[in-house]
Amino acid sequence: MNNRPSVEVCFTPNLFPLHMDNAEFVVVIDVLRATSAICTAFHNGIDKVIPVSTVEEALEYKKKGYLVAAERKGQIVPGFEFGNSPYSYMNKNLKGQTLVITTTNGTKAFHTASQAKEVIIGSLLNLDAVSSFLKKQNKNVLLLASGWQNKFCLEDTICAGAIADQLLSSGDFVCDQDSSIAAKYLYLSAKENYLGYLKSSSHRRRLKKLNLNEDIKYCLTPNQTDVVPIRENNYLINSK
Ligand code: MLT
Repeated sequence: MNNRPSVEVCFTPNLFPLHMDNAEFVVVIDVLRATSAICTAFHNGIDKVIPVSTVEEALEYKKKGYLVAAERKGQIVPGFEFGNSPYSYMNKNLKGQTLVITTTNGTKAFHTASQAKEVIIGSLLNLDAVSSFLKKQNKNVLLLASGWQNKFCLEDTICAGAIADQLLSSGDFVCDQDSSIAAKYLYLSAKENYLGYLKSSSHRRRLKKLNLNEDIKYCLTPNQTDVVPIRENNYLINSK
């Protein structure tokens, strides 16, 4: 019983070094919207996703003819065709392609986790799929919330709490950190109405100002896909 794996929550990327020691699987979460966009891209047949940290790197890939997405502060970076809206990836013409993506926080969190043994991508869209994937691995899990410029974000923490709740309810995982307990309680208070619960959250307000309400609603709708993007070298593939 004592050697059950752990599931813990890290609230922001800058806290990652404090939490990473035991982690075998890191789940990068950016509900609004980077990891939701990545899951949607795989669900619609994208083959490979290369997350890059800077717009300059993204531009280099663009010059080489790649399909490239670049977002900063919620908006598509001028000169790029794609940003972070999951709706952009609901396009069967993108099937089989490689997507290069840079975003304000989500792709940075992915790189923060670069030292982790294994990295997967989580969102509310693939909530159950991620939880069942992790249950099968039987390894220590760290749920890394991308936050906003290293500040705490409610939606990522709620998603982390939802995954933690599923793993803990299985009886096969334990948690020790107060961040994990807090994330779980936030999820339990939010789960009946994510949209309402997040009404005044900072990134929801930011995206609403940009008329991205449909994106918000979609990203807050659990279990739209069973993809589980997993890191392989410096890119992501669908684990299935
Ligand atoms: C990010 O990576 O910071 C977010 O996905 C921002 C956004 O919603 O466009």
